[in-house]
Amino acid sequence: MQGVVKIDTYDIVIIGGGPGGYTAGIRAAIKGAKVAVVEVDRLGGVCLNKGCIPSKALIASAVQYQKLKEADSFGLRLSGEFGYDWSAILARKEKIVGALVGGIGQLFKSHGVDHFNGYGRIVNSKHVVVTDEEGGETKLTAKNIIIATGSRSMNIPAFPIDGVRILTSDHLLAAESLPRSILIVGAGVIGCEWAFMLSMLDVEVRMVEMLPRALPLEDSDTSRLIERELKKRKVKLFTNTKVDSIGPGGEGVLAELSNGKTLEANQVLMAVGRAFNTEELGLEDLGLKLNKNGSIHTGADMRTNIKNIFAIGDVRGEIMLAYTAVHDGTVAVDNALGGKAGKDYLGVPSVIFTHPEVASVGLTEEQAGAKYDVITSKFPIRTLGKAQAENELSGEVKLVADKKTDRLLGVHMIGSHATEIIHTAALAIRQKLTARQLGELTFGHPVISESLMEAAHGLHNESVHMPRRK
Ligand code: NAI
Repeated sequence: MQGVVKIDTYDIVIIGGGPGGYTAGIRAAIKGAKVAVVEVDRLGGVCLNKGCIPSKALIASAVQYQKLKEADSFGLRLSGEFGYDWSAILARKEKIVGALVGGIGQLFKSHGVDHFNGYGRIVNSKHVVVTDEEGGETKLTAKNIIIATGSRSMNIPAFPIDGVRILTSDHLLAAESLPRSILIVGAGVIGCEWAFMLSMLDVEVRMVEMLPRALPLEDSDTSRLIERELKKRKVKLFTNTKVDSIGPGGEGVLAELSNGKTLEANQVLMAVGRAFNTEELGLEDLGLKLNKNGSIHTGADMRTNIKNIFAIGDVRGEIMLAYTAVHDGTVAVDNALGGKAGKDYLGVPSVIFTHPEVASVGLTEEQAGAKYDVITSKFPIRTLGKAQAENELSGEVKLVADKKTDRLLGVHMIGSHATEIIHTAALAIRQKLTARQLGELTFGHPVISESLMEAAHGLHNESVHMPRRK
């Protein structure tokens, strides 16, 4: 252990350099604050290093490969064999990640954010001690502290992750080769994204989900359609089913399911949710209040029960998304610097990178129906000229509105470019527009976004490109 180094007082010390923490750091610096970000790993957190960005890079490779398989339908003639090189796909991913992570370091320098590489522990409400790889300690004095330590893959104790047979997505992102077959436990966001990616890369995928449907937090029509798409990719999905045991056998592992069936696969991918990174931060000694599920309790202003300590992002356990962490960070920084900001998630979309993509904003039909008398409208993507031209025919748009006021309450999309198109709907929901107001916009043509306009007209039985309801 080396001596403790002391540094000047910071206005804000942020623990965690993921999307929530690093953007909060830069935002604080823009506002003139003296700020430090403490990160034990590479900057960028799960999102840049192990989540959003690497998975999207791999999905892009898988989609390109899938397109090659469909070359015939575009009038293309490929001669000879084609395939993919997994290590080259990983190298491409790593290059993309490396460039983005390096970019954060550059941004810190240009904005004057101090970066400490080490493990941050809060010793009292005014001090954070950073322990580096060699055991050296630096004591930072902070007027305000923001905890942005995020989350990690959840481990089910009965099925310990060994990185060989039972994996998390972190292992697959660094795997030397892909298995021939895989059992994915959990058909939530991660499970479904990986199921599509792996099946496009010719891996045989089996899935088990304990709830009645895949993507259980989305509208039930979205679940029904995504299950149909999984089936088209020959993914075998068991819903309402739990894994009772996993042991060696068969193709590598043999899983006994609660429905009495057994499933074989080379490996198992656990995608059953995330655990909060709250350990060894000194929270217990501080008396910091936690929620029942172990996440950190804050108000809408991101303050914990200790006035100058804030928490943002996954570690709060409310919504586990990179972009809501960024929003939380904005709120926390404003308040740490004397403002009176509160979180506002109205119009925050959900974007899921399956193939076809899934995106939604606002209330599901079920949620809306509990509060309002609702009307719904659906428009199938395959009707659109652009969908036909691109041979991306799967999916639909569903709108949910208040029957009395026509206010849009929810928009649910499945289809090509859905994760981009949803932002038009997100703005409509945020601005509390009516379906008629959305339909009044003249959309470009031919674009998949026209589905929003047609579905909006459809709510009033006025869609030009749908048969008229009697
Ligand atoms: P999740 O909560 O979305 O899904 C986990 C699924 O596993 C649930 O459907 C759950 O019912 C099921 N499950 C749990 N225990 C089970 C068991 N023993 N047997 C069978 N099924 C079981 O969590 P996931 O997919 O791990 O994602 C973690 C977080 O990361 C989520 O909050 C998600 O929103 C976020 N994320 C967001 C992405 C995006 O926005 N595109 C991409 C990836 C993750």
